[in-house]
Amino acid sequence: ARPLYLDCDTGVDDALAIGYLLASPEVDLVGVGSVCGNVGAEQGAVNTLDLLALAGRRDVPVAVGAPEPLAGAFHGGAPGVHGRNGVGDVELPPSGARPAAQDAAELLLRLSHEHAGQLHVVAVGPLTNLALALRADPTLPARVREVTIMGGAALHPGNVSPVAEANIAVDPEAAAAVLAADWDVTLVPLDVTMENLLEEPDRDALLEAGTDLAPWLGQVLDLYFTFHEGTFGRRCSALHDPLAAAIAVGGVTATVAPRVHVAVDDTRGPGRGQTLCDLRGLYTGHPDQPGARCRVVLETDRPLAPHLLERLLT
Ligand code: BDR
Ligand code: CA
Repeated sequence: ARPLYLDCDTGVDDALAIGYLLASPEVDLVGVGSVCGNVGAEQGAVNTLDLLALAGRRDVPVAVGAPEPLAGAFHGGAPGVHGRNGVGDVELPPSGARPAAQDAAELLLRLSHEHAGQLHVVAVGPLTNLALALRADPTLPARVREVTIMGGAALHPGNVSPVAEANIAVDPEAAAAVLAADWDVTLVPLDVTMENLLEEPDRDALLEAGTDLAPWLGQVLDLYFTFHEGTFGRRCSALHDPLAAAIAVGGVTATVAPRVHVAVDDTRGPGRGQTLCDLRGLYTGHPDQPGARCRVVLETDRPLAPHLLERLLT
């Protein structure tokens, strides 16, 4: 199994991504870092530790990451989307487990040495920890096999501003640094995550599952489903983070994913947080740009929900 480091802001859909990765034999979750985003970094780590304990995986190290973005203060999370505690205001059984002594950037750097050339980095929160790790050691990309990021919007509207997606918007400076670094990146933007939904019967199946983690995930999804009613007109949820996880694992394959230059707007204007993906090649039938390191996923081979459920229910 391929070693995988997850960086996240747990978070309802982050919780689904964690459950999915634990159920995926293709990968070995060797560490998790938390970052401020949906909740503060400390709370994100507590949620992650609780979920890992429920899944019987107390062995996975969890490190607290950046308490605030590179520039500016933490905005206070998204209580209306993920609940005040990040897990839909459900009280998970407290694991009592403690996070690692290192911070998330240090954990990532350590794992990059332990699994040099093999480590797959999956980031489903703001990119602050990855940027801090790059700052501390610019040779990091040489030891990382691949990076998969849930973030951005290519040809799709934003979800926190007309043009910006939440993970990029929380820390555009970090996103700019991470996307400029010399590693093999796959960006999984709103263009595909908003097309992959979980529906009420799916949540019922989770609630009724005989496994330790799935019924909790079903409960955690309740508030998130209510939030999405405003967007989709019915109770359901977008599967942002688990889609990035599934593409990283190979459970879902990107079918249209041109390699293009991606710039991040880190100005203070109305475009702040926008991912400017240079997709002009789509007009000419030559979408890849020479020298570009970032694949932008625009289409996938199959819907995520049935595959995700299959893994979460067994
Ligand atoms: C992203 O923002 C967070 O709210 C979700 O967990 C996901 O990572 C979607 O824009
Ligand atoms: Ca997230």
